Amino acid sequence: MNRMKLAAGVLLVGGLAVVLAFRGSAPNGAPEVAETADAGTAIHVYKTETCGCCGLWVDHIKAAGFEVTVENLSNADLAAVKQSHGIPVELSTCHTALAGGYVLEGHIPAEVIESFLEEAPEVRGIAVPGMPIGSPGMEGPNPRPYHVITFDGEGNRTIYREVDPR
Ligand code: CU
Ligand code: CU
Repeated sequence: MNRMKLAAGVLLVGGLAVVLAFRGSAPNGAPEVAETADAGTAIHVYKTETCGCCGLWVDHIKAAGFEVTVENLSNADLAAVKQSHGIPVELSTCHTALAGGYVLEGHIPAEVIESFLEEAPEVRGIAVPGMPIGSPGMEGPNPRPYHVITFDGEGNRTIYREVDPR
């Protein structure tokens, strides 16, 4: 095997390993979070200090490979952050994050954030309103399907993804 073929072979095996890692499942049946975020993709998270589900969501996006910084705020300051970033009240939830010039509201799965940042649509951001059971950081019995919704500054909404955690 010449040097070129050898390099190609190594690349192929490497790619296969990534695919296999992606399909893996944790022993408890929960989907495994593969490290897929581009190294150094920065997310800044605003939350309140005592928010437990926010902390679990932060763990989720860290495990996916994002470079996460966290800022704990009072309820009033968190509300002010949401307002200043134009997050519709009816989509507002426990935490707000910023990445790549977008607003990310609530318990959005890391893999949805990754594809959203890659597609970079012309919206202000995406949200998972209502802290649905089964979303990352909101694990629990009876998970249910939920929507990731885009929003812009003109009141437009679209369903970006339907996620079924069951
Ligand atoms: Cu929450
Ligand atoms: Cu939260």
